[in-house]
Amino acid sequence: MRGLLESVIENNRGFAMDGKVASYIPLLSKADPNHLGICVTTLDGKEYTAGDSSVKFTMQSISKVISLMVAILDNGTKNVFSRVGMEPTGDGFNSIVNLETKNYNKPFNPMINAGAIVTSSLIEGSSAEEKIDKILSFTRKITGNDSININEEIYLSEKETGDRNRALAYFMKGNKSLRGDVEEVLEVYFKQCSIDVCCSDISRIGAMLANDGVLPWSGERVISREVSRIVKTIMVTCGMYDESGEFAVHIGIPSKSGVGGGIMASVPKRMGIGVYGPSLDEKGNSIAGIKMLQELSRELDLSIF
Ligand code: DON
Repeated sequence: MRGLLESVIENNRGFAMDGKVASYIPLLSKADPNHLGICVTTLDGKEYTAGDSSVKFTMQSISKVISLMVAILDNGTKNVFSRVGMEPTGDGFNSIVNLETKNYNKPFNPMINAGAIVTSSLIEGSSAEEKIDKILSFTRKITGNDSININEEIYLSEKETGDRNRALAYFMKGNKSLRGDVEEVLEVYFKQCSIDVCCSDISRIGAMLANDGVLPWSGERVISREVSRIVKTIMVTCGMYDESGEFAVHIGIPSKSGVGGGIMASVPKRMGIGVYGPSLDEKGNSIAGIKMLQELSRELDLSIF
């Protein structure tokens, strides 16, 4: 496996040149576009890495999977999906158009920014701090990594420039699809996006989901089989935004991307995969990360379809 991962890295290095590191959150632009890392975590708890697998990056939208799980643990599936939909949009991750023209009362799904902001608002807690602490401790548990924390510099950079997300949140507050204190919700959302991880961390999250909600390394159940099934399904249909269809055809693995350059992938009953490459395609997904997953899917016959 290690040899395969090393050749996957080498074969796909060139693709980074075709994309661009995210710059709409200014501090993200400091990432090295040549970094490329991969980690596979199998369900017997074995881990294989290659390339820049220990380089840290912020989870960004990968955190939407975590806040969805925490919101469901707090409120139950039915209540969460009464406030956010399950349908893909075919629009960009930060699109606002559907909030006015369609589905007026709730955002389409928990993977786009609007839906994730609503999901985070559903996490129980008396302050933003309490809510983010809950997200952090759940992230530490499902990665088996107690040192996971928020990258304060990225958080401040995102907070300073997050007007698009502020617009989404205030629009939703205006049409009553978002309740509570908007600034508090945005603090939780910006902070969850700024959680620092490496390939192994996200690979373990994928492995937990692949293992139907049980941590492969300890046997502890953290979410029900049913919640794990729902989360993976939403990752297939919405996890790569308006690239989800093409990704399903070419790769066929439930996955979630983030503009930090990570992709967390979960191959049911087989493995979790974490890839990192900060150069992004025009949809905001890691360009070389997708190519690496494509090669691995082909080599190991990982498509669920
Ligand atoms: O809200 C944002 O714009 C970022 N914090 C997260 C967006 C993101 O990661 C989209 N994914 N590819």
